Amino acid sequence: MEKVSILVVSYGARAVAMVDAFTRSRKYKVEIYVADKQRNPFNVRKAVKHVVIPDLNVEAICKFAQVNKDEIDFGIVGPEKPIINGVRDLVEKRTGIPMICPTKEYAIEASKAQQRLLFQEIVPEVNPRFKIFNPKDYKSQEEVKKAVYSWVDELGNKAVVKPDKPAAGKGVGVWGDHFTIREQLFEHFLANFQHGPVIIEEKIEGEESSFQAFCDGKHLVALPDTRDYKRAFDNDKGPNTGGMGSYKDIGDVLPFMTNVDRAKEIEIVNKIFEKWKASDNEGLRGIPFYVAFIHTGKGPKILENNSRPGDPEIQNILPILKDDFVDICFKILEGNLTHVELERMATVVTYKAPPNYGGYSEAFPNRVDRDEIGKPVDLTKAYELSRKYGEKIHVYPAAMELRDDKVYPLKSRAVCVVGIGDTIETARQFSLEGVKAIKGGSLWHRTDIASKRHIQKSIGHMEELRRKK
Ligand code: GLY
Repeated sequence: MEKVSILVVSYGARAVAMVDAFTRSRKYKVEIYVADKQRNPFNVRKAVKHVVIPDLNVEAICKFAQVNKDEIDFGIVGPEKPIINGVRDLVEKRTGIPMICPTKEYAIEASKAQQRLLFQEIVPEVNPRFKIFNPKDYKSQEEVKKAVYSWVDELGNKAVVKPDKPAAGKGVGVWGDHFTIREQLFEHFLANFQHGPVIIEEKIEGEESSFQAFCDGKHLVALPDTRDYKRAFDNDKGPNTGGMGSYKDIGDVLPFMTNVDRAKEIEIVNKIFEKWKASDNEGLRGIPFYVAFIHTGKGPKILENNSRPGDPEIQNILPILKDDFVDICFKILEGNLTHVELERMATVVTYKAPPNYGGYSEAFPNRVDRDEIGKPVDLTKAYELSRKYGEKIHVYPAAMELRDDKVYPLKSRAVCVVGIGDTIETARQFSLEGVKAIKGGSLWHRTDIASKRHIQKSIGHMEELRRKK
């Protein structure tokens, strides 16, 4: 068996799913080198070398790559921060190790304003009405307040406030969720405006899908659509989170979408790609297009583009690859990835999180076992189920840390379970069974990820929007 050594830059279950896909290779003897945010128990167990870089600083990642450069064949990056900070440019320049992720120039996740302007040039129909407010254009708070109120008037108050930079200030605020009066909207706006430009755009009504595509610089290989559950609690209540779970149907299309919706998504992303790539653009390696679409009665609009795989959405895809993931990566590096084979299976991901995540302990104080907070979590029963059901359950630790042979939950989404089945419902039952087998730490999860009721609601909503158009 040919030996292949791979550097994985990791933050959470998204990179764990990559490590799992690599180490399940039947064709290669894979050695994994992980630059990780913490001692993730899965990665520590699988890696030949594992280093903790808490802030995923690109200089530190590069040093780790440099020390091991004679061994490593290529690298791949999960999280956005090092991609935006130019990890590929630095590692390739200093070590010659080819990296799978976009270069800094093509990490357009770095600026939501630039994204809107780019879409405006290439596919203006995907943009909601929007306006960019740049601090350098206003002399006083009064002046910007007047401009903001006047724009919000034009939008009939139905506005979304977004900082240009990811995770700057107070983050994204939505009319009806984060504020119901204009003074609150302006307060939210100002909290972001202190950090740089802010976009105020029209709030769009519709159903969301996550579109991801592998890219080798020459070809764009669309992956099946997935649906993310952003809100913390059942019935889409509570604050936005990184995603409490996601599902994928057996084919490429989600139950509430039509084949025309899917074709339109591919057409839109291809238009952006064609414009960027010219003939060949190696800067676009990896998953430079993870597009959050929203389907309206009049066709899809784009909420945002990310320059990396989705978390949890890539966990819906990697466990059901028919092609060897190492081969897919080699093809990405060689510029000849034209097709990817997947099992015709549905997948459901459910996350478990600690009580301090997503406002759970404030919303449901009586459900929290305070003595359990921060205590070790027992994954053994979930792994037993995974063995019992073969490849139907995958257990991927995320914000968890291995200390003295015990697994401790940290402050973010702790662990996810991927269920695989020949229907969404079967996949969901596997995912839930795995999740319920995880004990300790007073972890909680949404119970309605991919439920028939939730999916039916999305289908009904889309039918209503199409009728109204
Ligand atoms: N699921 C949301 C994200 O990956 O950004």
